[in-house]
Amino acid sequence: MIKRGKPKLEPLPAPSPGGPKHVAIIMDGNGRWATQRGRPRLFGHHSGAKRVREVVEACPDVGVEYLTIFAFSTENWKRTQVEVAGLMSLFRRYISKETRALNDRGVRVRFIGDRVKLDAKLIKLMNELEEITSHNTSVHLTIALNYGGRDEVARATKRLAQDVAQGRLDPEEIDEETLPRYLDTYVLPDPDLVIRTSGEARISNFLLWQSAYAEYEFIDTLWPDFTREEFSRLCASYGGRDRRFGGVKT
Ligand code: IPE
Ligand code: IPE
Ligand code: MG
Repeated sequence: MIKRGKPKLEPLPAPSPGGPKHVAIIMDGNGRWATQRGRPRLFGHHSGAKRVREVVEACPDVGVEYLTIFAFSTENWKRTQVEVAGLMSLFRRYISKETRALNDRGVRVRFIGDRVKLDAKLIKLMNELEEITSHNTSVHLTIALNYGGRDEVARATKRLAQDVAQGRLDPEEIDEETLPRYLDTYVLPDPDLVIRTSGEARISNFLLWQSAYAEYEFIDTLWPDFTREEFSRLCASYGGRDRRFGGVKT
């Protein structure tokens, strides 16, 4: 009898020295992918969600320690009620279904974005997933859900102003080190590489502060077609870039 197990994955090339430690991905193109197949947009979102596991699992092989993925932006509420509700239900299902596999693989999951607008059931699942995986260290997966860079800076500024008003922070001390401590990403290093799929060359309000010196890769692949091989190739080509951070190469 033929056993239908998981197809065996080809080994990826060894990580290149100087490869990115933190990769952030704008997972775009699910809707177009579905439309090309004559299917509803939500079909694309479900197919896109399946790609996440493959990329997370590839991280240790390509030397990536931090992976941050853009799942839902503060602007995505403008979509139809059917699409928004479908996405929220997908996030709930995804978390319930993936918690065990993520934990077994030693993945630590965090969420960034404003939780206030999300439904209570989803918030509970997010909190549980963060708690269950809180001691893991193999990969740091951060999911941006109801995230917007401007919204994040505004929320951070509000908390910073409260600290000033209550005498906990001296305005004279505020500098480039102070503000990021109030951002949702305060425990994460800045991304080295930001990948956006689907051919759009914009960042759509993603990690505005944190990506000041990130390298960008805008690729034509639609997110549901993105593979671990492409991920590995993009990380390898990053290793060859010369990042000067405003200085001069010595
Ligand atoms: C990205 O795919 C997923 C989310 C924004 C939730 P899109 O849904 O934006 O797909 P396109 O850009 O319409 O193809
Ligand atoms: C960015 O994609 C947000 C996510 C991938 C979650 P969008 O499809 O929402 O961005 P725009 O509308 O093309 O700028
Ligand atoms: Mg899009």
